[in-house]
Amino acid sequence: MKLHTPLSAFISAFLLATTAHAAEPLQASLSIGAPSGPRIEPAIYGQFVEHLGRGVYDGLWVGPESKIPNVHGWRKDAVDALKKIHVPVVRWPGGCFADDYDWRDGIGDPAKRPTRINKVWGGVIESNRVGTHEFMDLAEQIGAEAYVAGNMGSLPPRAMAQWLEYMTAEQGSLADERRRNGRDKPWKVPYFGVGNESWGCGGTMRPEYSADMHRQYATFLRGPTKKVASGDGEGRDEVTNTLMARAADQMDALSLHYYTVPGPWEHKGQATGFTPLRWAETLQSAMKIEDRIKVTESLMDRHDPKQRVALFVDEWGTWHDEEPDRQGMLFQQNTLRDALVAALSFNAFHRHTERVKMANIAQVANVLQAMILTRGERMVLTPTYHVFEMYAPFQGATPLKIELQAPEYREGTLTLPMLQASAARTADGSLALALVNLDPQRGLSVHTTLQGTASGQLLTAATMDAHNGFDGPETVKPTVYAARKTAEGLALDLPAKSVVVVLVQPSDKQTASH
Ligand code: AHR
Repeated sequence: MKLHTPLSAFISAFLLATTAHAAEPLQASLSIGAPSGPRIEPAIYGQFVEHLGRGVYDGLWVGPESKIPNVHGWRKDAVDALKKIHVPVVRWPGGCFADDYDWRDGIGDPAKRPTRINKVWGGVIESNRVGTHEFMDLAEQIGAEAYVAGNMGSLPPRAMAQWLEYMTAEQGSLADERRRNGRDKPWKVPYFGVGNESWGCGGTMRPEYSADMHRQYATFLRGPTKKVASGDGEGRDEVTNTLMARAADQMDALSLHYYTVPGPWEHKGQATGFTPLRWAETLQSAMKIEDRIKVTESLMDRHDPKQRVALFVDEWGTWHDEEPDRQGMLFQQNTLRDALVAALSFNAFHRHTERVKMANIAQVANVLQAMILTRGERMVLTPTYHVFEMYAPFQGATPLKIELQAPEYREGTLTLPMLQASAARTADGSLALALVNLDPQRGLSVHTTLQGTASGQLLTAATMDAHNGFDGPETVKPTVYAARKTAEGLALDLPAKSVVVVLVQPSDKQTASH
């Protein structure tokens, strides 16, 4: 992209001048323009909790009798941490687990609830100790909206409709039953998933059949809930196209699942101890989420040109090889690389706010790209958690156009941009700016003509796979960061492999366009 400011000429000259001195930080430039779309829905910072591995039990739920501090059974440390990142919405109970879940198993006296085998995730016993009432309590404790995923795979439409009625009705036998089970006031269920991955674990349905099933199930879901259709997750355009062609009028949103898988599915690669090439491949795979969003948007536009139906990326994140001792549990470490994946994904969501109204990272605790890892009473916050915290000012802000001029980052045969960025105007008029330096070796100075001050946080570490373990829970954590003033404007110095988020406060000198 080209910059039409004198700064760009200055930077171009600088870029040339520094090419010969690789040890010097490289130079880049950035300019910010007009709004690029509607506001960034806070819900794109959503979370996903599934009955999978130690995602619910241990990770978040320890039970009211536990010695681990808890509120009604939910770990206090985890709830406090999640409150801090302003989780706007939580999707539950799956995932594939939802596709075979009977909500009736999880209500009433906990001692009388049936135990089931969690057939999709490791064949372990599901106690049903956490059910609807407990999940709704978690959402309330965190201050998040509930996104409940219904079973379109193995239960009839009446069961799905009755679950929604049980949660939301003022009167009738289901409301009475809810009251007997301890909840008087109806809950709000702003989002309801009509199935999950109907092309796979949700029923192995053909797109045409899935669209018909959606129509049928959605018909019986009455009330003020947004109905989310189960969309593509394998890069198959016909899934999106067919659902939109045949069922768009029966949905408020269509889901998209996109996982960043560094290698082939059978050998995804380890979460730690990877090569520089794997680093680059991972970031490239993460950035491809935007291609998937673009293709999905254009297919949606074909059938819904007024963009009534939202796109919910309701599962995303990194999927590495499981730790060898935890088969079926999808536990993986979380490194600086995962943090960059999160930042790149947020930047992509910010560029597509016309359609992308929600996104839910998979998953909150101990599963895939987690925010939280637990061991007994101990808990660590992952680098990904810190990126969620750093990006909080973007929730509800208006995205702005951005122009970048930056060197490339090469690894093997791969060429990636070295710099990725996002800017938005917050409700109080500040400018939020996020910058990602993808290069694991070289620092970068980003020059702007912005005036004023810019301060915030920097996330980086000594190694690409730096992570927070129980023996070093704060190896990767944000540090205080401030931009440097130059004669032209603010400059942001980015260490190799880093994420910076700042709020720019204007000075008197600043013009209206900044
Ligand atoms: O997040 C793990 C699994 O990934 C979910 O259960 C499923 O929907 C997806 O395939």
